[in-house]
Amino acid sequence: MSRKVAELEGVVKRYESGEDELTVLSGVDFGVERGEFVTVMGPSGCGKTTMLNILGLLDEPTEGTVRLDGKDATDLTEKERTLARRESIGFVFQDFYLIPTLTAEENVDVPTAFSGGSGGRARELLETVGLGDRVDHYPDELSGGQKQRVALARSLVNSPGVLLADEPTGNLDKETSDSVLDEIRRICDDGVGVVAVTHDEKLTEYSDRDVRLDEGEVRRTGKVTE
Ligand SMILES: Nc1ncnc2c1ncn2[C@@H]1O[C@H](COP(=O)(O)OP(=O)(O)OP(=O)(O)O)[C@@H](O)[C@H]1O
Ligand SMILES: [Mg+2]
Repeated sequence: MSRKVAELEGVVKRYESGEDELTVLSGVDFGVERGEFVTVMGPSGCGKTTMLNILGLLDEPTEGTVRLDGKDATDLTEKERTLARRESIGFVFQDFYLIPTLTAEENVDVPTAFSGGSGGRARELLETVGLGDRVDHYPDELSGGQKQRVALARSLVNSPGVLLADEPTGNLDKETSDSVLDEIRRICDDGVGVVAVTHDEKLTEYSDRDVRLDEGEVRRTGKVTE
């Protein structure tokens, strides 16, 4: 069985609109192991978010296979996908998607709502990301970087095996982005597989491996380890 916590094999993604067909991913082979931090780079519109969404079971490939923890997750039902996401995957989206009417702590607890709350883990995680003194703040009482850290805490509340981050340092200043990246590196060193899609070269200072999405395929660019 594969040691990969999340994996794509021969993934093709095509969009059809009327007569036109757009191939965004044309045969992606990619995987991440526990404790490994991989960056995915490439120009705007090349398919990075699409790839991340397929890896996180938020979108389905046209062709190919998606595996989570070595198990085929390509043909799960909608219900099974939701369960698998909740159990194994943490997401950090570029736009945070915090709920404005909930405090920082309540936002972090959202993914545990179906299983009866996190029993104080939300508060602990907020302390870990340096927001112990902001647990009762609402999103509009937080800075951009603080919101990003709340989103990061929320992505970890269910102890995922893999963390998928879309531009985790988008719009952050240097200091805040350093602290978010330190945090992601720490999470990764605790055994979580991390895939970060980004335009920010800075992430490669923290990653174990860097790939580039180029004409619909993944090519390795940095830190060859094998
Ligand atoms: N539902 C859709 N229907 C048709 N085309 C789509 C759809 N969703 C995305 N696309 C196209 O797929 C391509 C890849 O989009 P994607 O969001 O994955 O790019 P990206 O690499 O994340 O870009 P960015 O760096 O700007 O975030 C784009 O050219 C986009 O226009
Ligand atoms: Mg994108």
